[in-house]
Amino acid sequence: MIKINFDSKVDTTKATAILKEIAKDRMGGWFNLPRKYDMGELMRIKEAAQKIRDESEVLVCIGIGGSYLGHRAVIEALRPKSGTRIIYAGNSLSRRELDHALKLVGDHDFSINVISKSGTTLEPALAFGEFRKKLIEKYGEEEAYQRIYATTDKKQGALHDEAVACGYTRFVVPDNIGGRYSVLTAVGMLPMAVAGVDIDKLLEGAADAASESVEAAVNYAFMRYELGAKGYDTEVFASFEPCTAYFNEWLKQLFGESEGKDKQGVWPASVVYSTDLHSLGQFMQDGRRNLWETIIDYPTDETNAKVVQAVKIAHLQGGIPVLDIAVSSFDEKGFGELIYFFELACAVSAKLFGVNPFDQPGVEAYKNELRKLI
Ligand code: PA5
Repeated sequence: MIKINFDSKVDTTKATAILKEIAKDRMGGWFNLPRKYDMGELMRIKEAAQKIRDESEVLVCIGIGGSYLGHRAVIEALRPKSGTRIIYAGNSLSRRELDHALKLVGDHDFSINVISKSGTTLEPALAFGEFRKKLIEKYGEEEAYQRIYATTDKKQGALHDEAVACGYTRFVVPDNIGGRYSVLTAVGMLPMAVAGVDIDKLLEGAADAASESVEAAVNYAFMRYELGAKGYDTEVFASFEPCTAYFNEWLKQLFGESEGKDKQGVWPASVVYSTDLHSLGQFMQDGRRNLWETIIDYPTDETNAKVVQAVKIAHLQGGIPVLDIAVSSFDEKGFGELIYFFELACAVSAKLFGVNPFDQPGVEAYKNELRKLI
């Protein structure tokens, strides 16, 4: 269960209405997902993961934004020991990064999981073209196609059409779940299972949060809104475990894309302490007072726990509101809880700011302009 150290002024009538709206939203499929998981789909994911693990030393995960941040966050945090190595590609348009990823795969046996809901995003499309070529050169067309796993729309998009034509194994990004809310679908579950993450436990954690941590998530959403109304326009997510840096990245995407529209929202930033106390600590302590700090309080060792304590005291003295979100365990269950908690809090918070939590017109605008240029 997620525990918080603050209590905001929750308007319960409004909160209930918002929760109902979210549950009924045509993009609210993630809301009941952990409780009503399609067990047949889960089994297919596990079987595909086992096949990849049996025949590949490396899985190349190609995707950007919501198609990679969530699963990367969990894999990098938990560092599972028994899995296949994951190499990420297609999350930028840098030729240098792509060449580096190709070099890392080298002569290893590999498979590809290309993930794109729209199936038309340029970054993954370009990287996929390169890795697909490498796969065909290594294994020949027939075997190569059996090593490609495409996670995309059920019935449309360039990736969908290619997957059908070539017979790649397909997984579906449900119509009613957007990229940044899709970690617990095949988007995240397949790579996590391949990497050795216990996806049953992850789901268990998310289901627990869906029944036990709703109040805390709503409280946190109202607190964000209150702070926003008081002029705090930046939220700094602080963690004290360097391996959770990608979880911060997922949080920034989740809140940034869900809230930042119609000239609304809170700018999501992040730090990892104690490292960043030696770079951004000065600003946090004594710089412009337009920010608050949300500590993601993971269970940690004794010395690090003292750092958490010291930071809370010092930053409160420095005049920063400090919110504490305590994570129950540093394992799959804890991360499952956290994912659901933040998805829910973010959707409620965006609704309080009066914006649609589930669209991303700004991202589409950039994609359209880039398509015209390249
Ligand atoms: O959350 C979102 O919807 C976005 O961040 C998308 O995940 C991202 O733009 C990638 O899109 P796609 O999965 O269609 O390639």
